[in-house]
Formats: sequence, C-alpha cells, structure tokens
Amino acid sequence: MAHFAKPAEGSWTEHYPWLGTAPTSYADSTSPEYYELERKAIFGRTWLNVGRVEQLPKLGSYFTREIDAAGTSIVVVRSSADEFTAFHNLCRHRGNKLVWNDYPGEETSGVCRQFTCKYHGWRYALDGELTFVQQESEFFDLDKSDYPLATVQCEVWEGFVFVNLDATNTTPLKEFMGETGASLAGYPFGEMTQVHRYRAEVGSNWKLFIDAFTEFYHAPVLHVRQAVSDEASKLQEYGYEALAYKLSGPHGQVSSWGGMSPPKDLNMVKPIERVLRSGLFGPWDGPDIGDLPPGVNPARHKAWGIESFLFFPNFMILIWKPNWVLTYHYWPTSHNTHIFEGACYFVPPKNGRERLAQELAVVTFKEYALQDGNTLEATQTMIESRTPVTTFPLNDQEIMIRHLHHTVDAYVQEFQQRTATLPAPA
Ligand code: FES
Ligand SMILES: [Fe+2]
Repeated sequence: MAHFAKPAEGSWTEHYPWLGTAPTSYADSTSPEYYELERKAIFGRTWLNVGRVEQLPKLGSYFTREIDAAGTSIVVVRSSADEFTAFHNLCRHRGNKLVWNDYPGEETSGVCRQFTCKYHGWRYALDGELTFVQQESEFFDLDKSDYPLATVQCEVWEGFVFVNLDATNTTPLKEFMGETGASLAGYPFGEMTQVHRYRAEVGSNWKLFIDAFTEFYHAPVLHVRQAVSDEASKLQEYGYEALAYKLSGPHGQVSSWGGMSPPKDLNMVKPIERVLRSGLFGPWDGPDIGDLPPGVNPARHKAWGIESFLFFPNFMILIWKPNWVLTYHYWPTSHNTHIFEGACYFVPPKNGRERLAQELAVVTFKEYALQDGNTLEATQTMIESRTPVTTFPLNDQEIMIRHLHHTVDAYVQEFQQRTATLPAPA
C-alpha cells in the first residue's frame, strides 16, 4: 500500500500496522552471529548494485568489486556492445584471484580483450569461455569448454548494474525494484556523468548509517553548526518534518523539503554559498532536465527539495531539486564495521563557475557525512556495551528505520525457516 498524503488521523507509521509502534531492538546490529545470518540471508541472495554502465564504456571495460558480506570478489565486464556479464573473480585452474593489480584485496578497473591469470597464464574470453591453457597437453583429458568462469547473475536497471550471488534466484531485477523502481524510470541518470566519490571505513554496523540517512529528525540538532546562527535557532525551535513517506515491499522513500536552494533569504547561508550560488542542496542554478518521473516528489509539493530512496538492502539514491543525484552504498565487513561509499552525480559543468558550484555541494555533503559518521561509532560502542538497555523508541519520522530492521529480520527469519539447522540469532 502506498501513502503519499499524511493521514488526517494517526501517523505515517500507523499506515503500516505490521510495523507496530513498539520500541525496536538493536540486537541485530551488535551480534556477530546475526551478521553471519545477514550475509547468507540478504547479501548472498538479493540484488546488489555494484556500479553504473558509464563505468564500463567500451567492449572489454571491466571493474572488480570485493563483496565481503557475500564472501566473494566479482568481475563485471561489458562483454558485447550492450551486454554486461559478471563472474566470480576466480581462475578455474587452481583458484587464483583472476583480476587484480598490486594488492589482491583492492578493487581495480580497466579495459582488456581477455582475462589472463597471473599464476599460470590461463586465458578467458570476455564471455568467460576458457580459451587458452598453457601446456595444455600436460593435462589429462582436459576439455576447455568444461572450465568457463563461474557467472553471477547480472542485470541493469536505469543504467545501474546489479548482481545477485544466489545462483538459484528467479526474481528479475525489475521485479525486485518493484513499484518504487518503476516510479523512477526515465530519470536521466545517464546524463549525470560528472561524478565525485567518497569512500570511508566506518566502525559501526551497516544498518546504523542507513538509519542516520533515512531520518531527518537529527538534522536540526546534529548539523546545527552547518547553518548560520539565525537559521540554526529557527531549525532547533521548530524541528523538522518530512513531506511524505512511502514503503513498498523491502524498499522505501522519503520526500523532504528543500528550502535552501536558493534560500529565500540570502543571509541564511554562508558567504561562500552566496558567491558560488551553491550549498548542500546543490548548485542553485541546476540544469534543465525536463519533467521528473512520478516517483520524484510524488506529492508534487511546492516546498519539495530531496527524494531519498532506500533500495533494500544497501543502496540509496537521493534526487535533489536542482537536478543532481547522490548515491550511498553500505558494504558490511563485520557486525560492527562497514565501508560507506558516497557518489555525487552532476550533468557535466559547462564552465569553471559551474564546476566550483558543484564542488561546493560535494564538499558540503562531506562535512555533513562526517558529522553523521561520528555519531555512528559512538552509538555502536554503547549498544554493544553490557547495559540492560536493548530496545529503543522510534518516532514517526524514524519509520524507515523501523522498516529496515523489520525487513532485515523478515529475510533472516525466512532464511532460518528454510534452512532450519542454523543457530538462532542472538
Ligand atoms: S591458477 Fe590461474 S592459471 Fe593457474
Ligand atoms: Fe545527517
């Protein structure tokens, strides 16, 4: 059920009665055993976004991704003009990692005609076929066609390349993206080829950072120093409320206001923002990209500024009113660590002024993200401490947090029921 209008009575959360309103347990973010279940039940089974088609511009363009949570490394390659293929990054001879540069644990990218193993020189075509074996006659009845690279399901949605590590998966990506994905179809992501990226190792459970980016309740408090003092005191007095929330299957979205681009009162912003006509909300003079698809500002609210989508499990897309895009990925590496990736996508700037306006948005975003990141480690250490406190109250603006933890638990429980022999979560 989709809801875009705030109900006359009740709350956003009460529109989804199965979520309940009780305090939420964070035991799912402190337990190594639970993380092991998440790896199998979620990261080994769902569609995961690993990049964009623009990262693979030509035949033979490839990149590797280390997906620790799914226990593997993959290679994604443009294997024909319009086909993308993913493989486990594993040589069929004796299991060497096939594609890497100086350090086997680091991701890499490039363009090649074929993949050659560094160990004994076996070669594979872009479609994974084994084409060359060094001293082939030394082997015993070796038929090269028996040893192609092991493929991984790979599909593209709106230029975003996804993989699914469950060889038995039968849900096409489009179906998985559901009505939330369909409502975004046609957004010109492919025109936003000016990309700035951040990557950080964070000392918290992966879900904690998603929690921080799917509610704005913290914004007037945690980020108060980002605003000039007049504006800061107004924000603290009135707090913050989003325009709309919508949950659909495992995914969710929140529509938020966007009063800062451009601000009504230029005194509300810092001098550099006035000079460069830009800030957290992006360059004030964004490009014209035509009409927005129905999923962006679904309520067609005049005060709209940002649409934040969470595509389960670990991929967020933020669409900003001045026509640029931010993506977040959260890649778990243990129950209390993860790698965060943020990428800012713009239509390429036409001159130096536009470039600086974009870069101001990029560095302002970094400041906010660092403030968010600080609280994560502080939270993780305390929820792991042996206090008697295990549950936490969530307000109506924290509905997407409730939904995320609920969805994770549903996947884990479904997995446990199917396999029945694994230990129960802590
Ligand atoms: S392990 Fe790759 S060629 Fe031997
Ligand atoms: Fe924040």
